[in-house]
Amino acid sequence: MASYDVIVIGGGPGGYVCAIRAAQLGLKTACVEGREALGGTCLNVGCIPSKALLHATHLLHESHENFEKMGLMGAHPTVDWPKMLAFKEDVIGQNTKGIEFLFKKNKIDWIKGWASIPEAGKVKVGDEVHEAKNIVIASGSVSSSLPGVDVDEETVVTSTGALALKDIPKRLAVIGAGVIGLELGSVYKRLGAEVTVIEYLDAITPGMDAEVQKQFQRILAKQGLKFVLGAAVQKVEKGAAGATVTYKLRKDDSEATVEADVVLVATGRKPYTEGLGLDALGVELTPRGQIVTNGHWQTTVPGIYAIGDAIQGPMLAHKAEDEGMAVAETIAGKHGHVNYEVIPGVIYTTPEVASVGATEEALKKEGRAYKVGKFSFMGNGRAKATLAAEGFVKILADKETDRILGVHIIGPSAGEIIHEACVAMEFGAAAEDLARTCHAHPTYSEAVREAALACGDGPIHS
Ligand code: NAI
Repeated sequence: MASYDVIVIGGGPGGYVCAIRAAQLGLKTACVEGREALGGTCLNVGCIPSKALLHATHLLHESHENFEKMGLMGAHPTVDWPKMLAFKEDVIGQNTKGIEFLFKKNKIDWIKGWASIPEAGKVKVGDEVHEAKNIVIASGSVSSSLPGVDVDEETVVTSTGALALKDIPKRLAVIGAGVIGLELGSVYKRLGAEVTVIEYLDAITPGMDAEVQKQFQRILAKQGLKFVLGAAVQKVEKGAAGATVTYKLRKDDSEATVEADVVLVATGRKPYTEGLGLDALGVELTPRGQIVTNGHWQTTVPGIYAIGDAIQGPMLAHKAEDEGMAVAETIAGKHGHVNYEVIPGVIYTTPEVASVGATEEALKKEGRAYKVGKFSFMGNGRAKATLAAEGFVKILADKETDRILGVHIIGPSAGEIIHEACVAMEFGAAAEDLARTCHAHPTYSEAVREAALACGDGPIHS
């Protein structure tokens, strides 16, 4: 039996970051992970592999749409699907091995297997019981399916199966117009599939700023994605080849079907806490199965903490990472802190979509007096030069104080340029602070400055 200051359960972005920070702060640390490789959902079957496929298929799309416009002539590339999947696997391997290296460098023990907690202070893996002064649960989440939908990861798939299909489907039906549905729907649309997205609500990407939702849907529809909105999926029936999705339109209760070779179920994720023994321990869960934690990520049982997708809040790798660092600092006697007001969200389609802070709808609901500064990428020199002048930057600032309350971007590299807004918001900046900051020309970031100028005396290029 080994004894540790901290045992982290789960080696995803929340868990591995927590383990590294704990070790850096001088705590004897182990991390339990049952997968073959470290990195959790994000590195193995989520963020990283999807970004590899999004990048490769984006280039394919560029070659079809834009190469000739720029004088790049010649045959269009064709797709070697097994090779593209091998590229994706290689990217996964490089990333997961990187974490293994960081564990060795920081002298963190990787305990291989699935953990349970027989009692506070003890973690059981296989037949071994390890002692830990502190336990951090970072067990993540799994896809949640729908009643009447059986996932087999071949014909009816979650994101995991969708990242490893044997063949590119001719027809893909996507249930849910959230982040996963739209990213993976884009991948297969670019690879030539006919993609139909069926969404329960009347808009795509729930929770996003409504103006962004509308423009995003218009752009994706122009790229060829078909949308059926306001439609509740009832069942998915597998046939000899493919499957039939039956949905009911909410406005008139009429039923309709979509035939597809593959059906992607992207209707959200739920915390994964099975097998940990939380019930017996008395660790409280919310009705949605999330582990209840206080402001210091402590569960209802002393000595047991929880972070990431297993607790409340957005299911985002970077939110889990921040909590991982903060809880390690807390355990080490420092003051761990996460600013939940400034957590960006990014969708890695083309164009990218990124947002941080309040939406216009949320401010209206709150009754807050605000102003809007908007700037279209049509007025941005770099975006024009790269044939990417679609979308806009929208800044919401307090009407009186000019403090930035929310930033919403749809456009080129939105997922990168959002961070200047994040830093500004961390410092409590006003829109004028962004507007008075010199921005290099020509950059996409200038669109952020122009939107900030639009909150004051007006932008220059519109
Ligand atoms: P999501 O919660 O973003 O979207 C699910 C969608 O499915 C919603 O729009 C919902 O209205 C719809 N839906 C639910 N039941 C339905 C039904 N019966 N019929 C039709 N539509 C239905 O969930 P998603 O896309 O599965 O992602 C899961 C989590 O993973 C999210 O929290 C997301 O933030 C995270 N994620 C983040 C990524 C990123 O940051 N780029 C990438 C991938 C996932």
